[in-house]
Amino acid sequence: MTHYPLSRRTLLAAGSLATLGVLTPGSDTTARTSSASRPTDGLPSALQFPKGFRWGTATSAYQVEGAAQDDGRGPSIWDTFAQMPGRIRDGSNGNVSVDHYHRYKEDVALMKGLGAKAYRFSIAWPRLFPDGRGALNAKGLAFYDRLIDELLRAGIEPFATLYHWDLPQTLQDKGGWQARDTALAFGDYAGLVACKLSDRVGHIFTLNEMLTFVEHGHQSGVFAPGLRLTQGALNQVRHHAVLAHGLAVQAIRANARHGTKVGPAENITTALPAIETPENIRAAELATREVNAPYLTVMLEGRYTDAYLAKAGADAPKFTASDLEIIASPVDFVGLNVYSPGLHVLASEAAPGYATVKIPSSYPRMASEWLTVGPEALYWAPRHAAKLWNVKDIYITENGASAADRPAADGMVYDIDRVMYLRNYLTHLQRATAEGVPVRGYFLWSLLDNFEWADGYATRFGLVHVDYATQKRTPKLSAAFYREVIARNAVA
Ligand code: FCB
Repeated sequence: MTHYPLSRRTLLAAGSLATLGVLTPGSDTTARTSSASRPTDGLPSALQFPKGFRWGTATSAYQVEGAAQDDGRGPSIWDTFAQMPGRIRDGSNGNVSVDHYHRYKEDVALMKGLGAKAYRFSIAWPRLFPDGRGALNAKGLAFYDRLIDELLRAGIEPFATLYHWDLPQTLQDKGGWQARDTALAFGDYAGLVACKLSDRVGHIFTLNEMLTFVEHGHQSGVFAPGLRLTQGALNQVRHHAVLAHGLAVQAIRANARHGTKVGPAENITTALPAIETPENIRAAELATREVNAPYLTVMLEGRYTDAYLAKAGADAPKFTASDLEIIASPVDFVGLNVYSPGLHVLASEAAPGYATVKIPSSYPRMASEWLTVGPEALYWAPRHAAKLWNVKDIYITENGASAADRPAADGMVYDIDRVMYLRNYLTHLQRATAEGVPVRGYFLWSLLDNFEWADGYATRFGLVHVDYATQKRTPKLSAAFYREVIARNAVA
């Protein structure tokens, strides 16, 4: 993916983050700048979130853990993919990354310093089952025990994702997501995790962003495993991914402690009404249901839309009625990853009832080519999910921004562009909660700079800057901003 540096980057010249309240956990400044006791005194009008709203940060195993060969971890498709020449922009890989595997205590302390209440991390399937299935690797599981216990000691609720794209290579060798058997293996793995960890982990996400790993990994080939399948084969991979989700939901229900909550973490493609008229809003709802047909729509409705099947024709996925029942196993919540608007629509008299507006070249972007800035997406995504599918509990499982972060002369990163992005998006999320859209929490991507897939380490998403040569962590200005948001439970 091409890198588009921001042309109008401005770094604050004065002040240091210590005086602004960005800190290392536990320092005195934390208390001095804490605004918990003065939510609105002398501050601009507070856009408050509901009481008990869960503020958190998110990461994923391959992107942060490193320790690729420690304690019996098996190779994943990302280890293999990163070794292929030219696949990762800077030629890097996740072998060491930000070494979260060994530095998790320091990272939990950073979360605590933010005041975060929750942490969304992913479990590396090849750490638990180096070959995808078979005997459990106890040493791999022990890492997650340590991490979870550390989080709980810090008063941070663990939210675990079962699959954030690191398929065991052995399963890829047997057909990967093209093989129905991979979905079955995923169900077994999910059941085991539920059995071992649900005494302390109350929320489990099944698969992260099926849309991304399926399409990028099997159609454009820019993500692992780097395939370019025919449309029919691609549709079958899509089907196996949602089937894996459904099987995991069932396995978790069968094996987890009573009360464990489960749901997907999907990057909904969100249609925005170009202007908020009732007709355009209806058109945006129609469009959102249709463009998510192979993922959220089938998971939440138990059927592929007529238009999806008609368009696929002979390439439609092969499935049974019982597959659809499994895929639509009832979930406790829906996690939505929201970065950019998917499309902008206007109502249309002609079928399918909406017209898509082309994105102009002047549309603003952050430091990733794909990351167009449309803060209203964080209002419409959960609103559409609640309206279309009657979802009662929604988590924003990812939202955040890449920026051209450069440490200033004092070593700090004054990422006011990321702060601008976050403030705008959170304003729209607050609008949703104020209108009663049932959003229960928000996970900012990401706690730390990390391995950003095919972009390698060139693209930074963290609230905390990582010097990759020394592993030094330095909270950015955006960390101070987020700390204020959490302390006030309001847009800061
Ligand atoms: C999402 C991924 C996450 C990260 C962010 C920037 O699509 O789920 O791992 O790469 O984008």
